[in-house]
Amino acid sequence: MKNLLVTGGAGFIGANFVQYMLERYADLTITVFDKLTYAGNPQNLAPVADDPRYAFYQGDICDAEAVDRAMQARRIDTIVNFAAETHVDRSLMEPGSFIQTDVYGTFVLLEAAKKYNVERYHQISTDEVYGEVMTGRSVETDTLEPRSPYSAGKAGGDLLCLSYYTSFGLPITITRGSNNIGPYQYPEKVVPLFVTNAIDDKPLPLYGDGMQMRDYQYVLDHCAGIDVVLRHGQVGEIYNLGTGAETPNIVMAKTILNLLGKPDDLIQPVTDRPGHDRRYALDVSKIRELDWESRYDFSAAIEATVKWYVDNQAWWRRIKSGEAYQAYYSRNYAGRAV
Ligand code: NAD
Ligand code: DAU
Repeated sequence: MKNLLVTGGAGFIGANFVQYMLERYADLTITVFDKLTYAGNPQNLAPVADDPRYAFYQGDICDAEAVDRAMQARRIDTIVNFAAETHVDRSLMEPGSFIQTDVYGTFVLLEAAKKYNVERYHQISTDEVYGEVMTGRSVETDTLEPRSPYSAGKAGGDLLCLSYYTSFGLPITITRGSNNIGPYQYPEKVVPLFVTNAIDDKPLPLYGDGMQMRDYQYVLDHCAGIDVVLRHGQVGEIYNLGTGAETPNIVMAKTILNLLGKPDDLIQPVTDRPGHDRRYALDVSKIRELDWESRYDFSAAIEATVKWYVDNQAWWRRIKSGEAYQAYYSRNYAGRAV
């Protein structure tokens, strides 16, 4: 593993991963390949922009020729695929781009991985592919029961990866992560949305009864887990990645308000997300066998996250004041207060 192609590296987790890996390993080169959709932001990569080990290619993972050019020019030996359409609410409004990027784009990358005989193709997947889990915890061998166009697309991507391992011996690994929080998360996702709304004394739109459970993990724990799987994971294997503990959304919202010294009545109940998965819960014993453990529990993760958004207001105010963001906000939230 010397020359990494990090697709989707200008997004939230990808940008944290690029910074994490360059800080940690002196002998790596990293090429970010990113379409720069609304969620991709070159500012997320500003800390590494002048690093000679880093290069940026703007391109679509569905464009086989563009992928090929980057693979060849940068002598890629490892692909880590973060590129995806990622927001469940948007997948309910416009599912087409999710299927295109998350399924067809994965296929294009797998073909490139096969052609260039890479040492590893790593797919970043999600706990959402298991569907909602009302009791117990999902293990990696569980049946996939995705329930939104987003999670169905991600499940399709996972199955394609496994098929390339079985059919062609491609050395793939997959991690299925729980909800990440931390620096550079686009403020449509619940935690940065609630933190930034609360800073501005705006309502926090809580879906349904707020009793849905998510395993909120700190993004750098997720990055460390991906690194461990790249170095020590078995090819052909899937690894769940999360803290292994869940928090109800109402508790998450009240914790944010408490950390910011804001009143609970900023919470505004709104109509529920259609098909809203009530609970995700991961069994993380398999990744723990590789000596990985999350360092941040929910309290530490949310505290570090709130602090970053308080300290980096220019970053999110630029996004939230933009026309595209505001159009999305009214499309998703207008008339939903209950
Ligand atoms: P994000 O939405 O912040 O970033 C996605 C990035 O992919 C953006 O930079 C975007 O420009 C890029 N992209 C989108 N379509 C592309 C295309 N066709 N070609 C090239 N680039 C494209 O997403 P994120 O939250 O950082 O998630 C990254 C990955 O991790 C995704 O695969 C997601 O499914 C997975 N995941 C996310 C979470 C989470 O909580 N955010 C949890 C588990 C897994
Ligand atoms: O579980 C991993 C997944 O986590 C990733 O695969 C996805 O890419 C990522 O977006 C995230 O999906 P969720 O749907 O869980 O995240 P989101 O931040 O959209 O919502 C988290 C919870 O908060 C969920 O129960 C819905 C609720 N919610 C969300 C929004 C945007 C609200 O109550 N109000 C909101 O305004």
